[in-house]
Amino acid sequence: MNDAQTLAVEVIGIEQITPLIKHFKLAPIGGGSLPAFSGGSHIIVVMQGAGRVHRNPYSLLSAPHQLDNYEIGVRRMEESRGGSHFMHDTVKLGSRLEIAHPVNLFGLDKIARKHVLIAGGIGITPFLAQLEDLHGAGVPYELHYSVRSSEHAAFLDRLHRRAGANLYMYHDDEGRTIPFETLLANQPLGTHVYVCGPAGMIKHVIGTAQACGWPDSHIHWEQFSAPPGGDAFDVYLARSKISVHVPPDQSLLESIEAAGVEVPYLCRGGVCGFCHTRVLELEGELVHNDHFLSDADKARGKSIMPCVSRARCTSLVLDL
Ligand code: FES
Repeated sequence: MNDAQTLAVEVIGIEQITPLIKHFKLAPIGGGSLPAFSGGSHIIVVMQGAGRVHRNPYSLLSAPHQLDNYEIGVRRMEESRGGSHFMHDTVKLGSRLEIAHPVNLFGLDKIARKHVLIAGGIGITPFLAQLEDLHGAGVPYELHYSVRSSEHAAFLDRLHRRAGANLYMYHDDEGRTIPFETLLANQPLGTHVYVCGPAGMIKHVIGTAQACGWPDSHIHWEQFSAPPGGDAFDVYLARSKISVHVPPDQSLLESIEAAGVEVPYLCRGGVCGFCHTRVLELEGELVHNDHFLSDADKARGKSIMPCVSRARCTSLVLDL
């Protein structure tokens, strides 16, 4: 994926649905249909901010059969690098945006005998589209949705309508938390678990499932977090023959893109492997923040995922 493959859309609906989450509807300019997708897919929204382009991934929450517009939910991040504030403060009805084609890195397993879906906060969004896929599929499922308090519970009407008795709600302020150990220790063989939410929740679910003997192939997770910042550094792109400065609050990928060099991407979150880039020379160390490279690959220092990883170095040359 690169920006040459984006679609132009217009914002046709905006609704503040919780104190922190806005719901957006994006339709193709001039009408028509958007590309088909399946539950769990995300799009990248390209935003032309002041002096900086933001490219943020958002899960599609609309029904996969509804292609006249896409729906996304955007949580206002306290420590936003600009993208979520842009969506909340700058985007209005009628605003035009570029989006990348949908990609699914969080799809439902087709041969699972049961699905256990676990959401925290804004992590509910991919499951809204998956519920549409699950409806009438005949495979049992449970959706466990945890929020800080009732006012932070998003899309409740839709969830009740679609999931009914399969929906289990948990409110932190009432001391009700998801009983992860019990939940994951008592599932029939062939069950798959899916988790989307804060990093701590994802880590806990993965660890608990592994401790309960779940195979890794049955544990699915998705998290869209901002790339971590760090020290500024400079990188030389050998094929493009240019030097690029990476400031503390910009990712390596964003800095390379701002210099006019395209790098393929799908997730922009260190998961898909699409932005894999060869390291040709390095004086210093790489700061790997991805979940794609193996520990051995990271130790070898010959590859980097520029969407989330950076370097602490005096010299870095990449094969770009
Ligand atoms: S874009 Fe997916 S790992 Fe970098």
